[in-house]
Amino acid sequence: MERTFIAIKPDGVQRGLVGEIIGRFERKGFTLVGLKLLNVSQELAESHYAVHRERPFFKGLVEYITSGPVVAMVWEGDGVVAAARKLIGATNPLTAEPGTIRGDLAINIGRNLIHGSDAIETAQQEIGLWFTDAELVGWEPTLSPWLHE
Ligand code: RTP
Ligand code: MG
Repeated sequence: MERTFIAIKPDGVQRGLVGEIIGRFERKGFTLVGLKLLNVSQELAESHYAVHRERPFFKGLVEYITSGPVVAMVWEGDGVVAAARKLIGATNPLTAEPGTIRGDLAINIGRNLIHGSDAIETAQQEIGLWFTDAELVGWEPTLSPWLHE
């Protein structure tokens, strides 16, 4: 079953939006299989954003993600990687569509609330970076027949 890595960034935690954001994934019908609150180390932040190492915003991005607690999650479901990106909205919250998390709840690219893996392979890599196998819980929601034909 497809899985994706989602993180509520420090601004989402500080602004009290954890429940609001988790609720959107729950209401959509995806299954939560991993969840923890953590302070992100410099090393984890730099590994997670390694692809942006050479970008001018890299230093600020690492400072942002290490600036307070982050809620790290793994969500499961058919097509969850792409669908989560749609729920999240465009990187810049000012251009993100209303109805998306960033479009509804944020105004600045450097405080855009949430991270979501951008491809299935990236998701597998990020899940392995943030979670151990023992921290992931596979389970069958009793609602399944009401969510899948
Ligand atoms: P994310 O990885 O956090 O889910 O965001 P994304 O795919 O929509 O955007 P990405 O291009 O991967 O950028 C990662 C994060 O870097 C910050 N950023 N700042 N100042 C800038 O021009 C700029 N561009 C990107 C954002 O926090 C973005 O989410
Ligand atoms: Mg990205």
